[in-house]
Amino acid sequence: KVSSKRHLWTEEDVTRTLPVRRPSSHKGSHGKGLIIAGSKSMTGAPILTTRACHRLGAGLVTLATPCSAHPAIASQLIEATFHLCPSKNGEIDDLNISNDVLEKRYDAIAIGPGLGRNNNGFFIEALIKGYHKPLIIDADGLYYLKYFLPGLLVRKQVTILTPHLGEFAYLTNESIKMIEKNRFQLSKEFAEKYGVYLVLKGPYTIVTTPEGHQFINTTGNSSLAKGGTGDVLTGMVLALIMQQKDVQMAISNATFLHGRAADYLTENGWNSLSVVASDLVNVLPQVLDQLQ
Ligand code: APR
Ligand code: MG
Repeated sequence: KVSSKRHLWTEEDVTRTLPVRRPSSHKGSHGKGLIIAGSKSMTGAPILTTRACHRLGAGLVTLATPCSAHPAIASQLIEATFHLCPSKNGEIDDLNISNDVLEKRYDAIAIGPGLGRNNNGFFIEALIKGYHKPLIIDADGLYYLKYFLPGLLVRKQVTILTPHLGEFAYLTNESIKMIEKNRFQLSKEFAEKYGVYLVLKGPYTIVTTPEGHQFINTTGNSSLAKGGTGDVLTGMVLALIMQQKDVQMAISNATFLHGRAADYLTENGWNSLSVVASDLVNVLPQVLDQLQ
């Protein structure tokens, strides 16, 4: 099956590969995840990422966020725990925690949604170099990543990048037009060069493995073209990489279910103009229940 190197990821693939919860499991079996996200002017993104991660089965989710934004964010998250970071310009200035401790406490980290871009982002460089477990980088995390790209060349652990076209254009110094025209080729080159899983988002999101295999997502619709939906996907990817070994399967399953949530809503009386990101999180129970 792997010979052609490009595949559609179907509902059958999802039901075949989605993790099943054993009756004897406990929260530790389903992963302890850290989300590093949010700032004073972007309080919604971390909420969406954290909620989505919980809704897709993660055992424990901790949100690292600047202390200045914490009260507003925490008021909307009752299942999460928090790691408060020193704040500068209303954004995280430093993580205030060593990579050793991070590795002991967390099975995987997602960084980026709503971080802001006003500080130096050195803590992202430190994670790339010294956090030896799976790392997902999205949104403003990708903005900072551009300065630390060579660090990816030496990093040996799983790294997942989830850019939309604009973010990928920025990372590669290409125009958005150029990316759109050569989506498959450019994502393959980038994933192979840096040894990362690249999730190039948009209609028909492409998941490329570090070996250059590509998996195309078929779910989702234009109701997703709205701020916050990408933050939801990041939380879903984090949840699944902690619960299943095969990274590509975890990412493709998250991407499939994210789009399916949008399809479920528009097929059940929700006009696509009105679907918002938090609606996706709220219908995940039904979406999971209806998988064939
Ligand atoms: N059809 C199918 N899926 C779509 C469509 C579409 N027409 N449009 C968007 N999507 C999906 C993408 O595949 C992706 O999963 O919706 C999600 C959008 O994610 P992002 O582009 O990351 O959006 P988000 O981060 O939530 O919101 C806006 O984009 O321009 C930046 O910096 C800006 O932070 C802001 C962000
Ligand atoms: Mg985004």
